[in-house]
Amino acid sequence: MPATIILGGLWGDEGKGKLTDVLASSAQMVVRANGGSNAGHTVVNSNGAFKFRLMPSSILNDNCISVLGAGVVIDLPTLVGEIDDLLQRGFDVSNLRISDRAHIVLPWHRALDQLEERRREQDEIGTTLNGNGPAYADKVSRHGLRIAELMKPEVLRRRLAIELDAKNQLLASVYGADGFEFDAVYRQLAEAADRIRPYVVATEVVVQDELAKGSQVLIECAQGAMLDIDYGTYPYVTSSSPTAAGACQGAGVAPTQVERVIGIYKSYTTRVGGGPMPSELLDATGNLIRQRGNEFGTVTGRPRRTGWFDAVAARQTARMNGVTDVMIALVDVLDVFDEIRMCTAYQFADHQLHHVPALLDDLVGAEPVWQSLPGWNQDTTSARTWDDLPEAARSYLDAIETTIGAPVNFAGVGPDREQTIERKR
Ligand code: GDP
Ligand code: IMO
Ligand code: MG
Repeated sequence: MPATIILGGLWGDEGKGKLTDVLASSAQMVVRANGGSNAGHTVVNSNGAFKFRLMPSSILNDNCISVLGAGVVIDLPTLVGEIDDLLQRGFDVSNLRISDRAHIVLPWHRALDQLEERRREQDEIGTTLNGNGPAYADKVSRHGLRIAELMKPEVLRRRLAIELDAKNQLLASVYGADGFEFDAVYRQLAEAADRIRPYVVATEVVVQDELAKGSQVLIECAQGAMLDIDYGTYPYVTSSSPTAAGACQGAGVAPTQVERVIGIYKSYTTRVGGGPMPSELLDATGNLIRQRGNEFGTVTGRPRRTGWFDAVAARQTARMNGVTDVMIALVDVLDVFDEIRMCTAYQFADHQLHHVPALLDDLVGAEPVWQSLPGWNQDTTSARTWDDLPEAARSYLDAIETTIGAPVNFAGVGPDREQTIERKR
């Protein structure tokens, strides 16, 4: 019963969409496990370029069932928009399955995300403003609406009336903001319900049936393990668990059914939004990485913060998630450097840290301890085997492997599906 988890190793945007698309060609099922429309997963192949937010990145693979698991929060306009876009471009979405347990992002979640960010002023999280945090908060406090309720007009009416009333009171009293009108929200939801109805099932059953057949099932996480609500850089995190454990929970797969955990990291580090990033480069090198890696948010267009590879945080997430295979993506972005650096510890006046602490104040003043490695100063974008990579690039990947303690078995040398190298040991 082999399930494989694909998770982001640090702060997101590591190339999960690309690897999911590549591996989906030999899988029977892909399950997106967490997150919502805050994600932006890029897929580039012979069909064109796609930026998926909710749609599992496998959707272009006809032989594969693409599942939105129970751990996802669904912004209906985004999902319906993605379905329509694919249909208009001539693609088939009949292989899509949507969990009846997934929660719905309601209009007030988006409003509250924006209002809360404004209230935090300079301490803002820098969320994607898509309503994800408030939707997960309502899920946990048992005020959420699920797809199963959306499918039953009478249940939807009853639950919606209660939740809308409470949220309108909150919006007015705490934020002085306008509320929502029941009929308009109900109509919008009912229309979306009819659009997604053909795809809604008990996905946990579908997933287990597939595993019981001995099929290959991939679990696609969104975000990255350093954005995890428990083990990330709280409070500068997302509101779900983009971890191996979270992947199991969100997809409806047991830990004992997982054979492989692929952790994807970039050859350097990026982060969007606020929060600590000890290996950040606020100089010309950081700018060059940003330009070469086209490091601008897939969803928001925001410039991503850039820095050298943070092996401290990477080692932490590789260990905690039981990463069996590491993919280092965007190796080609470093093709122009004479020297490459990797952060191996956080230095303070009188001590060093080798992990990311719970209290972010304990990171203030951290200076990265750099390990310097020779660059390769050579184009890697046409490399297709491990041996095609320059020796210095292979040495760099080996150094990452040794430092974070997990085998680097994949490398990315460009955005296209073809630009993925698997190491044959
Ligand atoms: P995800 O959220 O993890 O799926 O990653 P994103 O799609 O948000 O961001 C990754 C970006 O890097 C996208 O623009 C990809 O097309 C691009 N990309 C992925 N792998 C590579 C690679 O190996 N080299 C280069 N140059 N770009 C890559
Ligand atoms: P993918 O799946 C990068 C970040 C936001 C913000 C924090 C909280 O494409 O890798 P949220 O909207 O989730 O409440 O924002 O998390 N964030 C991401 N950063 N990639 C993502 O997704 C992200 N999803 C959320 O920038 O710092
Ligand atoms: Mg992304």
